[in-house]
Amino acid sequence: MEAPLLDIKGLTVSIPFRDGERAAVSNVDLSVRRGEVVGLVGESGSGKSLSMLAVMGLLPRHVSVSGSIRFDGIELCGAPERRMRALRGRRIAMVFQDPMTALNPVKTIGAQIAEMIRLHNPRLSGAEVRERALGLLEAVAIPAPERRFDQYPHEFSGGMRQRVVIAIAIANDPDLLIADEPTTALDVTIQAQIMEIFARLREERGIAVVLITHDLGLVAGLADRMNVLYAGRIAERGPVGPVFAAPRHPYTAGLLAAVPSIDDVADRLYAIPGAPPALQNRPPGCAFAPRCGFSVPLCHASEPALARFGEGVVACHRAAELSLSTLSAKEA
Ligand SMILES: Nc1ncnc2c1ncn2[C@@H]1O[C@H](COP(=O)(O)OP(=O)(O)O)[C@@H](O)[C@H]1O
Ligand code: SF4
Ligand SMILES: [Mg+2]
Repeated sequence: MEAPLLDIKGLTVSIPFRDGERAAVSNVDLSVRRGEVVGLVGESGSGKSLSMLAVMGLLPRHVSVSGSIRFDGIELCGAPERRMRALRGRRIAMVFQDPMTALNPVKTIGAQIAEMIRLHNPRLSGAEVRERALGLLEAVAIPAPERRFDQYPHEFSGGMRQRVVIAIAIANDPDLLIADEPTTALDVTIQAQIMEIFARLREERGIAVVLITHDLGLVAGLADRMNVLYAGRIAERGPVGPVFAAPRHPYTAGLLAAVPSIDDVADRLYAIPGAPPALQNRPPGCAFAPRCGFSVPLCHASEPALARFGEGVVACHRAAELSLSTLSAKEA
């Protein structure tokens, strides 16, 4: 089988505290194949952004990173900034939640896309750059690109701005696009349109996508495989279909139960009780134990290792005996 495009092994990201370092991301394995869409899900604070900022080499200096991050065979963990700069924007790109902060308010969007194209292709003529920029606006489904080219960010709606940000991210045909909560700031119909753009980029340009989100509905519609992160560790990973049909980890089942369905009325919408532990307060044993309706004494004493189940992996002491559905998570 072909080697994965992105192959993360044992990734640990530690943050210094007064009394020593704490691992915000612990021993995470995650891989992405060429042209694949991989979901990275979990509540706020689970370590999604830190993991992917580590891939981009964009973490602040005081944060330490260990493990291995191989991108197309190239080791990125501990790589010199020169190597990262050659990859960032050219082969790996990242899109963030807020499209406004990613755009320069005093430059036309055409100029901003052109700048990105020129950065990696200094020899292209002005006409070639413009043509390519217009093609990118089309790729992200911006209507009337010729007219839009000379407009400023404030003349665009939030959803249109996010499309521009994506156009800039894919300006140099990256192999991998990391989208960190790309639609959290947008309303539901716009969210769906942005998701369609990712699907198109994969289909037409073969771009692999890591989709970071706390919204499992988005993952269901777009991703091939998903990774569930809890308190900095992989709780469960597997192909989207089987994980949705039969989650093995109580946390996954809880997240799935929180996805609104047609017969859910708003006031009954399920929420996993409690909140994820703060970095300084992670409990011994299974980090989910204080919130888990299935915990037994072993869970509080020892940390469950990731074990293979079917096509996926799960870190839960009781994964083999529990038969979870989203309903049982609600009832637990
Ligand atoms: N620069 C930082 N300094 C201290 N703590 C941080 C920093 N960045 C993230 N953290 C902590 O690390 C944990 C994981 O953060 P993050 O990766 O941003 O989570 P997510 O993206 O899943 O919401 C959180 O507990 C967060 O508070
Ligand atoms: S190990 Fe125990 S506490 Fe953790 S998810 Fe499994 S059953 Fe729940
Ligand atoms: Mg985040």
